[in-house]
Amino acid sequence: MQSEYQHLIDLSDYPVEWWNSLIELGVKIKENPQEYAHECDGKIMATLFYEPSTRTQMSFQTAMLRLGGRIIGFDNPANSSVSKGETIKDTTKIVSSYADILVIRHPVAGAAKAASLTADCPVINAGDGGHLHPTQTLTDLLTLKIEKKTLSGLTIGMCGDLINGRTVHSLCKALSMFNGNKFIFISTPELRMPAYIKDIIKANGSTYEEVNTLEEAIGGLDVLYMTRIQQERFASREEYLAQKNTYVLDRKKMLLAKKDMIVLHPLPRVDEITVEVDDDKRAMYFTQAKYGVFARMALILTILSEKKGSETLKGKLYSGVKCSNPRCITNHEEYLPKSFRFSGDETLLECEYCDERKLI
Ligand code: NCD
Repeated sequence: MQSEYQHLIDLSDYPVEWWNSLIELGVKIKENPQEYAHECDGKIMATLFYEPSTRTQMSFQTAMLRLGGRIIGFDNPANSSVSKGETIKDTTKIVSSYADILVIRHPVAGAAKAASLTADCPVINAGDGGHLHPTQTLTDLLTLKIEKKTLSGLTIGMCGDLINGRTVHSLCKALSMFNGNKFIFISTPELRMPAYIKDIIKANGSTYEEVNTLEEAIGGLDVLYMTRIQQERFASREEYLAQKNTYVLDRKKMLLAKKDMIVLHPLPRVDEITVEVDDDKRAMYFTQAKYGVFARMALILTILSEKKGSETLKGKLYSGVKCSNPRCITNHEEYLPKSFRFSGDETLLECEYCDERKLI
């Protein structure tokens, strides 16, 4: 299925050169934002946030306003026709006829992809359930480029809810494309990184290790990426409570870290980093959130300047096969064409919306 518009659903849909030029543009914008103040005069961005957000939503809005454009949208679907049962297809179709660019966040995996199938303007994925968060990754890459001066040869620790945290999924996929990066996954056995992400890391020639404690890993890291335990994605409160408070980065643990390690966090933090760490010069999470505006300005400019369309569904369409992930958009919006890729062997299908694997 070919779309007339350039969307950003997953960074992997684009070559690394595209990300690199976007990051370079982000650096230029950071150095001289005034130069870009009228680049989007007369343009409108719609932000459809079906899930709570502070940074992502406001940084997108700020980015568009700083480029001279204007914004429309909702951040509480209860106040829109979504509450009357409107499908993503209809909401997207209408709003994309009002706006030049559409940014969507949704609690269900694959929702942004679904929106891109019918939108009459470019669609940007601002987080789809526990699946992906490509614009947080652009923010993270820009932060690494500015603060570590490289995207290669890094040892990156990722700590916390690695199964449900969409930011770490997108970031692993991206960083494994650069040479010599090594991942240390710090989590409980229940919250390990999904198998499909680990397979991508291996296929891209990067390596990973899985450990249970921060103490055993922190001393060897160049970057520590902390994440929140994603309460809203647990099946029950008991399961969440069993994981809560497992990992807390405090001043004592920071003493074990290298002098030039940096701490990132997509935020919001709950209790996984104590406030005393904020004063450590290696704590980079507030700076990271600030850089998110420059990354998103670069993205809006790039997406709006590229006219050629991208393929929206690349897999094989199967009408009779259902995705086995109950949190996949194809199980919520029945009209969507079911599309799967073969993963590795001929018996494993991978849903093109949410990447869930299914044996056939
Ligand atoms: C993250 C998200 O929404 O996935 N936040 C963000 O976009 N900055 C991380 C989180 O909610 O834990």
